[in-house]
Formats: sequence, C-alpha cells, structure tokens
Amino acid sequence: MPFLRNTWYAAGWADDLGRALMARTLLNERVLMYRLESGTPVAIGGVCPHRFAPLHMGKLVGDLVECPYHGLRFDSSGKCAFNPHEDGKVPARAQVRSYPLVERDGILWIWMGEAKNADPLSIVSYPAVTDPELGTVKGSMHLKAHFELIVDNLMDLSHVQFLHPTFGATENFSSSHQEVTIEGQTVVSTRWIRGGKGTPLYARNLPDPTASVDSWVVVSWDVPSVCHIDVGVTLPGKTKEEGLRAWPAHLVTPETEETSHYFYAHSRNFRVGDAEVDAQIVDFQRVAFGEQDRPVIEAIQQTIGNADFWSLRPAMFSVDTASVRARRVLQQLIAEENREISAATQHESRKTAAE
Ligand code: FES
Ligand SMILES: [Fe+2]
Repeated sequence: MPFLRNTWYAAGWADDLGRALMARTLLNERVLMYRLESGTPVAIGGVCPHRFAPLHMGKLVGDLVECPYHGLRFDSSGKCAFNPHEDGKVPARAQVRSYPLVERDGILWIWMGEAKNADPLSIVSYPAVTDPELGTVKGSMHLKAHFELIVDNLMDLSHVQFLHPTFGATENFSSSHQEVTIEGQTVVSTRWIRGGKGTPLYARNLPDPTASVDSWVVVSWDVPSVCHIDVGVTLPGKTKEEGLRAWPAHLVTPETEETSHYFYAHSRNFRVGDAEVDAQIVDFQRVAFGEQDRPVIEAIQQTIGNADFWSLRPAMFSVDTASVRARRVLQQLIAEENREISAATQHESRKTAAE
C-alpha cells in the first residue's frame, strides 16, 4: 500500500458539500459524498456494484442514492436499501463501502482505513479556519503530483524568494536559522527573521510598509499530510500578538500516486472583513500556488515519474530537515501499517485453509 490508510484525510471544505452528489477519488478509491436531509455529511463508495455505473451520475431520493443505470438505491451505510425490479430482492453483493466522515473546523475529514479504528479525537484541529474573529479566504486545487512533493514545498519555504518573486520573502529569510523539532508525530519548523523589510503580503498592511520588522514563520506538519502555519510580522521588540498574524492551513490528500487534492485556507487577524485584503489573498493563492508552485511541482512529478524518492538519492542540505523528517515519520507509519495488514491477511488465509 503506498498510502497510510488508518488516518484522517481532508476530503474537502465543508461548505462545498450540500445535497448535490460529489464524486472524489481519494487514495485511488472512488468516493461519493453528500449531505443527508438532516445536514449530516456522509461518504460511501462511488461505484455501483451492479454494472459499475458512477453513482454521482444518479440522484438523491430522500436520503438514498439512486444509481443512474438500473435504479438500485443505497443508504448512507452503503447497503442497497431498495431494488425497483421484479421481486425487489437485494443481492448480497449489492453493497458499497461507507467511510467515516466528520465535519470539523469547516473541513470534511474522511477515514480511509478500517472504520472501527476511526477516532474523531485524533483529528488535527484547525480552529482558525472557522474563527469569526479572523478573516479567512479558502480555495482548492488539483495537482498532477505525488502528495509528498506538495508537502516538501510547504515544509521548506526557502523557495519563496525564488519561486514567488512577485510576493517576495521577508528580507533576511535565507540567512535566518530554521529550527526543527518533533513533538509526538508533529514536525515543526520555526524561523524567526529579525529585522529587515517584511514580506509584502503582510508588510503592505503596516502603517509603514518599509519599516524594519521581526517576522516569523512556523510550519507544523501532522500525519498524514496536513500543515498548519503561523506566520506574521511585528515591530521589533513587540510580541506576535501585537503584529499582523495569519494561520494558513494547507491540507493535501492523495488522489492517486501521481495526483493530489490540495485544500488551502488563509486566516488573518488584520483588516478582517476588508474586501480589498481578501482580494489580495485570493490573488496570492491563485498566483503563488496555481501559477508558481504548481508548474514546478508538476514538472518534478513528470521528471521523476513513479521512481521511489529515496532511490533518486536527492542532494540534501539544511533547508530539507523538516520535509525529510515528515517523510520519515510517514514512511515508518506506512511500513508499520503494511506489516499489520499482511499479518492479518496471512492469519485470514491460514484460517480459511484450516476450515
Ligand atoms: S449499474 Fe447500478 S443499478 Fe445497475
Ligand atoms: Fe510556494
């Protein structure tokens, strides 16, 4: 298995999901999401087990999903609850998977592993996204790249001054020291940049955009591929709380081994409700992620294809510490999970042989 399964992945923004059927491929599986009449979001397998019609081409009848082809209807547990033909008997195989799906902090979190292991308490918290005191601008993007290439990009923001010249990194970024720590399974990269002009995205909202400021950027990575950022500028000697501060969320979910869903949000504590700043952030997300990061990340995917990343023996230097640690944590969890899956499979086949 190339992905960690027993973990929560971001399946989308909660406010993008309504009563319309939404199809999304996650970890190579076709998933169908929708809301019940009660508003509860649910996720089931996206392909009809009869003749494999995509269920998103069907429709909701009350809380049942009706297949577009021969009209079998499925409930939110994935069971066929209605067969419109002849005696109405439901064949045992007329069932799709159902996936635990939790709405939290405006994010839909899906569990792709065994449902019995799904513990909503283990969902990483992103309170800034729905904090009414903050101004949040959200978006999403599809990338033709392995999800870890996107995480590499987020965990090493030293690329900002080269790849995002129109936005510019904080002056003195390159010479600042990156401290990397691991707290449990969370990898945290911290940089404080003392003095110099702030990154224009924040500095232009200061009374004097050219003022010398202290800047910081803290990126926290959590299993499997979600990043929380704490970034901002403050006048020298002042605290973070006194400065202009933002808490971006970057949630990456594999679609396949070579494609990913990328959900991002930017929550700020300054000029909340100001449409002009909202537009600046929207523009930043569109240009920086869509027109600057994306072509390079997708070109890297094209270049390395499906080769194992480590087999390529990448050159490493100090800026890679955080992304490499994140890769190692995930790699270890995937290896452990694969060992457990193969032990369980062997146990099952021995049991079947003995029967
Ligand atoms: S393909 Fe769905 S009912 Fe036949
Ligand atoms: Fe970037």
